[in-house]
Amino acid sequence: MTTHRILVATSNPGKLRDFAGVAEAHGVSIEMVPDFSSLTQVVEDGATFDANARKKAEAYSLAVPGELILADDSGLEIDALGGAPGVYSARYASADPHKLDSNVKDEANNARVLRELNGIPMEKRTAQFVCVLAAARDGTTMNTFRGVVEGVILDFPRGHNGFGYDPLFYFPQAGKTLAELTAVEKSRYSHRGAAFRRFLEWLNSGNPGST
Ligand code: IMP
Repeated sequence: MTTHRILVATSNPGKLRDFAGVAEAHGVSIEMVPDFSSLTQVVEDGATFDANARKKAEAYSLAVPGELILADDSGLEIDALGGAPGVYSARYASADPHKLDSNVKDEANNARVLRELNGIPMEKRTAQFVCVLAAARDGTTMNTFRGVVEGVILDFPRGHNGFGYDPLFYFPQAGKTLAELTAVEKSRYSHRGAAFRRFLEWLNSGNPGST
């Protein structure tokens, strides 16, 4: 079994719990990039998850020369809302979601989603979570990994685990919302778990960029 230690560039406790859940299942350990909270925060102004993940990974990798680091950009795409909130997921309920650094509380974002979907029947409330992980070293992205999970947005929250939109996101195969799963269970199905497993396959394949 591998004993890799993976450095992750995030201080989001929900994402860290998710990463720990998938790492535990694969015998690797997760650590935050050292002194992450003292680093200048990267402005997430990309139009896509891919662009933001690369931007974060490249910038934060410069703080740990020679080390491979991972950055995550992710969000919720709701079909009935034309793919919103998408890259604006973390700040959907702010007065101006396009304004950078205007992240708001999860409860407020969830409340806005429920308002927008008010009156829309269950069969039209399909959605997907998307996660793009970028692996970078010394300011260069070595590869990116995408994971997606499809589900349905409920009209009331269920469960207290997870973070973000998890209490609204019903995953039919489990018969539960993602907030009703443990971190290890969520990682089996989630966009972040899928992207992370793709990253591990690449890492374990002896790819020259991953040495
Ligand atoms: P980021 O930090 O710019 O990637 O913002 C991600 C945002 O998308 C989070 O703040 C959540 O609102 C949402 N999100 C991403 N992944 C998840 C998840 O696994 N569960 C619930 N919400 C998520």
